[in-house]
Amino acid sequence: MCGIVGYAGDKPAVPVLLRALKDLEYRGYDSAGIAVLDPGEAGALSVTKKQGKIANLEAAIAADASAATTGIGHTRWATHGKPSDQNAHPHLSCGGEVVVIHNGIVENYAELRSALVARGHQFRSETDTETIAHLMEERVKAGESLLDALRGSAGLLAGSQAIVAMSPDEAGVMVAARLGNAGGVVIGYGEGEMVLASDLAAVLPVTQRVAFLADGQFARIDKLGASFVNVAGEALQVPVKRIPIDPVSALKGDYQHFMLKEIMEQPEALSDTIWSLATLEPAELYLNDLGAAAERLAGVQRVVLIGMGTSLHAAMIGRHYFEQFAGVPAETDNGSEFRYRDPVLGPETLVVSVSQSGETVDVLEAMAIAGTKGALQVTICNTEGAQTARVAEGAVYTRAGLERGVASTKCFTAAVVALYALALKLGQAKGRLSADEVRRRLAELAKVPDAVARVLADAKRYQRLANDYATTQHLLFLGRALAYPAALEGALKMKEISYIHAEGYAAGEMKHGPIALIDPSFPTIAIATKHALRSKMISNVEQVQARGGKVLAIVTEGDDELARLADGVVTIPEVSELLEPIVASIPLQLLAYYVAVHRGCDVDQPRNLAKTVTVE
Ligand code: G6P
Repeated sequence: MCGIVGYAGDKPAVPVLLRALKDLEYRGYDSAGIAVLDPGEAGALSVTKKQGKIANLEAAIAADASAATTGIGHTRWATHGKPSDQNAHPHLSCGGEVVVIHNGIVENYAELRSALVARGHQFRSETDTETIAHLMEERVKAGESLLDALRGSAGLLAGSQAIVAMSPDEAGVMVAARLGNAGGVVIGYGEGEMVLASDLAAVLPVTQRVAFLADGQFARIDKLGASFVNVAGEALQVPVKRIPIDPVSALKGDYQHFMLKEIMEQPEALSDTIWSLATLEPAELYLNDLGAAAERLAGVQRVVLIGMGTSLHAAMIGRHYFEQFAGVPAETDNGSEFRYRDPVLGPETLVVSVSQSGETVDVLEAMAIAGTKGALQVTICNTEGAQTARVAEGAVYTRAGLERGVASTKCFTAAVVALYALALKLGQAKGRLSADEVRRRLAELAKVPDAVARVLADAKRYQRLANDYATTQHLLFLGRALAYPAALEGALKMKEISYIHAEGYAAGEMKHGPIALIDPSFPTIAIATKHALRSKMISNVEQVQARGGKVLAIVTEGDDELARLADGVVTIPEVSELLEPIVASIPLQLLAYYVAVHRGCDVDQPRNLAKTVTVE
């Protein structure tokens, strides 16, 4: 959830850390801080931290730029302790022997803290993180190396953590640990310099050669490289991979916000995803990253799809694909609920985790449970080498490029495409789909990027439409069948970035409660496209209007009847039934974006949210 970065090299560390922190700011922006260590002067450790966004930290540093060449930095999404300068990371031990940044939650911190206070430690913050600095201090003072102190302390911490620490006693050295699923530690190998960060976005501008820490791995890093051990201190080999992502795609370009850029990139993101997974002539699926999972697909009797937030909505659309193409029961669950049930799963169950980051803790914990029950696991992920991909037997990668806006757009539609391809593959493996059927379905999929591009060509229209919705307090989004998850996603986008209270509802359920809310000040957006049970949706539109509610309908081009009936319409090009929710989601993304801009909201970094949620 929080962003962590580190640098060891010959250049001044401060600019490298600040730039990397900006790349990670989407992960949390309650406060930011850095600690730098000057190898020239023994004990020259300096820490600067500020509440609020990185700009505040930058302003605080400007007057006092350091020439230190090793440093760590952090951008925080508050869990324990309110956002404040004091609670900002990095955190120091009593005498500054150790400095720590951290992502995750030390679940037993209260107990550890009382014991440390009883042993004479003085705390400066309300955070759980500070306990780690004091625990390590005791070991460093007893003569342990920084790495051993981290290993020894790690065994005392409950919960999942990613930790990075430095000590003035070991100039030029950073140590890092990954314990559980509180987010990644990516270690980048540059030329005579090393970087680390909680995700690739911050490493790629320096190097594409990276190693990922897995659960239970510890690293000692200096400017010449990294060495790895497990909790017992035994040496480990961690492979270094070259990541084929173009860092340029991370730049905002001419767009005012990453979110708009990412909405507009969808035709390319969808096209890249489709053609990385399939060809049309001959019509074939190439899900090469399924690995050994491909062999087990024929035996799958049931599919369980897991995700959080927008990825859960993609999973809800994907469920229909598995039922239709593979003829197996398919259900969806929110990772945070799934992990606390005793789900009935077995080796015949395919668990499909959907996570653009591949680091969402509730998804990873749900996968761990699925693993203990022997289920076959495939992940749909936008980040090569991410933790979900390491846990699952196979992966289907989306090729959406880095997504920086906290509100997910291109990764959502690309995940739906990947689910479609996986479901076709399962249908094929189970002998349910003929070659002709696969060809027909792929040909339909191939039309989607163009249809999306046509909606985007009319983006300005949503800017005008946003005027009508910018002052509303509430909004209802209705859809049926495949359009129901699209309605949920439309409502989520609106509330995430514009802070308007928005509800997504299955249209048939509307008369069982939400209809009581309808009045002239409570507008409805209804997805009433050709295949989304249009005639039933017409009844719902009329029911809303009969109660004085105004309806904006998303309809298929040429639908004059709905155009006459609804108070406003936006049209989308016709695509096949199963792929309609992708195209119908585009107007909802654009509307949410322009309403948020109209209301002056911080679109890319909405309040209280973070892009990657690595805490429960
Ligand atoms: C956060 C983000 C959402 C995202 C969700 C799941 O809540 O703000 O945009 O949909 O996490 O993230 P994942 O990386 O697992 O898809």
